[in-house]
Amino acid sequence: MDTEENTFNVPIIWVLGGPGSGKGTQCDKIVAKYGFTHLSSGDLLRAEVASGSPRGKDLSDTMAKGALVPMEVVLDLLREAMLKAEKPSGFLIDGYPREKIQGIQFESTIAAVDVVLFFDCSEDTLTSRLLGRAASSGRVDDNEETIKKRLITFNTFNNEIVEHYEPKLKKINAERHPDDIFAEVIQYLDPLVQKAAAAVAQ
Ligand code: AP5
Repeated sequence: MDTEENTFNVPIIWVLGGPGSGKGTQCDKIVAKYGFTHLSSGDLLRAEVASGSPRGKDLSDTMAKGALVPMEVVLDLLREAMLKAEKPSGFLIDGYPREKIQGIQFESTIAAVDVVLFFDCSEDTLTSRLLGRAASSGRVDDNEETIKKRLITFNTFNNEIVEHYEPKLKKINAERHPDDIFAEVIQYLDPLVQKAAAAVAQ
């Protein structure tokens, strides 16, 4: 399949940002307002690990090192979840792409993205948020050593994504109150939803 269009005919939004930038927090708000299907690459991977499947076995070690799991695994999980969604009104793909090539593969084998939200945050803020969450999250990667590695991974690959998707990218200051951040997010998503509704009405 070679997709230059969004063949799902609903908005597709990628959500980028460093570890702890608030991707999940903002996705919860977006789902509450717009009812989109939220697919977090990290959650899909953690569910795969928890399932005990052969595919999940190697993933935990990679995630505990703060590194990226193989691209094909994430892409397969996302594709399967998108195809399973019942009457989706839009897809929020959270934590994807992590490298430019992931984005290119998604668009050539699944569908074109409409908007890329990038939650921008300083390393100090990211680190203090994740350390604050560590006591309750139970995540293997919420510890000081792995957080440093997650930041290195993010800094290594994120710029190439931001440059490549610049025409569709909305860079958002994520060092504000979650409600203030969301007020900006709405400005980018309302027009998408209106456009999708108008297309259905035609
Ligand atoms: P993933 O699960 O995606 O983790 P992450 O990117 O490190 O992000 P987090 O989930 O930790 O944070 P978040 O940005 O969602 O912030 P949150 O809202 O929780 O990925 C985990 C691992 O899986 C990766 O390291 C990799 O190994 C693998 N992986 C995932 N995707 C992959 C891919 N595509 N390819 C290959 N490998 C992949 O908020 C964090 C904290 O901050 C919370 O306590 C929250 O309450 C607080 N907070 C949020 N917003 C604010 C705010 N505005 N002000 C103050 N506090 C705030």
